[in-house]
Amino acid sequence: MWQNTRVSHTVVVELFPLDVRLEVQRGTALADILAEYGVEFPCGGSDMCGGCRIRVVDGTLPAGIPDRVVFTEDELAQGWRLACCARADSSLKLEVGQWITPVLADSAPLEGKGRAGLGIAVDVGTTTIAAQMLDLASGQVLGLRTALNPQCAHGADVMGRVLFALSDPRLTPLIRSTVGAMAVDLAGERSSELREIVLAGNTVMHHLFSGLDVLPLSHAPFVPDRMDEQIFTPAQLDWSLPPSCRIRFLPCIGGFVGSDILAGILATGIAAGETLSALIDLGTNGEIVLANGHRILCASTAAGPAFEGASIRMGMRAASGAVSHVILQDGRLECHVIGNSPARGICGSGLVDAVAAGLDLRAILPNGRLADGAQEFPLTGSVVITQADIRELQLAKAAIAAGMRLLLRRWGACRNQIALVHLAGAFGNYVRLESAVRTGLLEIAPCRITSAGNTALRGVKMALLSPDLPFPGPIEHVPLASEPGFQETFIECIAFPDM
Ligand code: FES
Repeated sequence: MWQNTRVSHTVVVELFPLDVRLEVQRGTALADILAEYGVEFPCGGSDMCGGCRIRVVDGTLPAGIPDRVVFTEDELAQGWRLACCARADSSLKLEVGQWITPVLADSAPLEGKGRAGLGIAVDVGTTTIAAQMLDLASGQVLGLRTALNPQCAHGADVMGRVLFALSDPRLTPLIRSTVGAMAVDLAGERSSELREIVLAGNTVMHHLFSGLDVLPLSHAPFVPDRMDEQIFTPAQLDWSLPPSCRIRFLPCIGGFVGSDILAGILATGIAAGETLSALIDLGTNGEIVLANGHRILCASTAAGPAFEGASIRMGMRAASGAVSHVILQDGRLECHVIGNSPARGICGSGLVDAVAAGLDLRAILPNGRLADGAQEFPLTGSVVITQADIRELQLAKAAIAAGMRLLLRRWGACRNQIALVHLAGAFGNYVRLESAVRTGLLEIAPCRITSAGNTALRGVKMALLSPDLPFPGPIEHVPLASEPGFQETFIECIAFPDM
């Protein structure tokens, strides 16, 4: 038996960054291990497609002949290998290529205010984390690190995280250790120059990072006990950084409106001037802000996971193999697939495009039904969208459109008075504006909508560079569910525009 031999018959395989740690028989095929976690092997493990790429973060996995055919010398040196050709002959920590999601950073130039030293701005998203290090004097960005939020393994959305956190304390150390490692890595040998690290995120990320009780966020009326800015020393977070470095998580606005939106208001400047503007961050939780220099209204609306490709039969994140865009060309569908690999699913932007194209083809009717009793709308290869997928999109887009209509009603304005809509976040960056308008997700002309990128990260950088910058406010948070006419407005918004 293995207990009596000198060499253990088991090895440990860790799957990064999902916090999965497995003890397996030495020599087990990595394909067998990874398949259990949903990793796909597009060419069936024939070492031809490169779709099963993994990166060895820790441990040793010698490169074989197929690896040398598929990867460059640089990639081999970085640890990239084909999972379908490899076995766990020793303990390994692996990053799975299919789990790597492109993370939206921010390249807008900002001016420093002459403060000496370095600072780090962090956007703590529910799915991804983006951190940029800046020279505080010049405002120049010196480095970027991105990561999947390791909490993803314990809940896809904020409510899943809250429910997990009610019975398990692991989420706080998980997020702290990930952000801390990113900060240490970014600062490198210059860590003694770090003055400040500023973070923003939604209210659940704020609470979990700060170690606050999430119970009030688990039930109506979803009003947190604490919404204020949270300040820490590196020692309190167990980070190997100089004690003089201050860490602060910016304050929240409401139960489902966090400091990421506060930072977005700062970044877009919508709370200045006379014209009415809007900020919309589309995700599982959609946040909407209406503002001018005199008033700020904000609301959150539960759009569900359709914009992130979840709850869709062939839905997936915007990663290699996802149909990300669909256009109609001479009456035919042309699909763009991320990574030039075979299509294996569809992400949120592809779904909105596909439904817009289906509406134009009259394959999808304005009430959302597939024409002629069809059950599926085929896109490319084996990728289809189903009647249920269209329903999911209808519910998601109705939540956003109804939220905007109700905020406008509360303001006493009509949509034509909005000068500009800033569409924030990764989905907002990739969705085609024409398709968002065609499906009724946004009820405003495309020429008055702009993709604003990662406004949360840009706003955090502004707060980092100018510590005395006043936060915009007061901000009136409108709980939509208790707003008069909420149900009726939501139902009105479910149908697609009949053009
Ligand atoms: S599955 Fe195609 S190369 Fe591994």
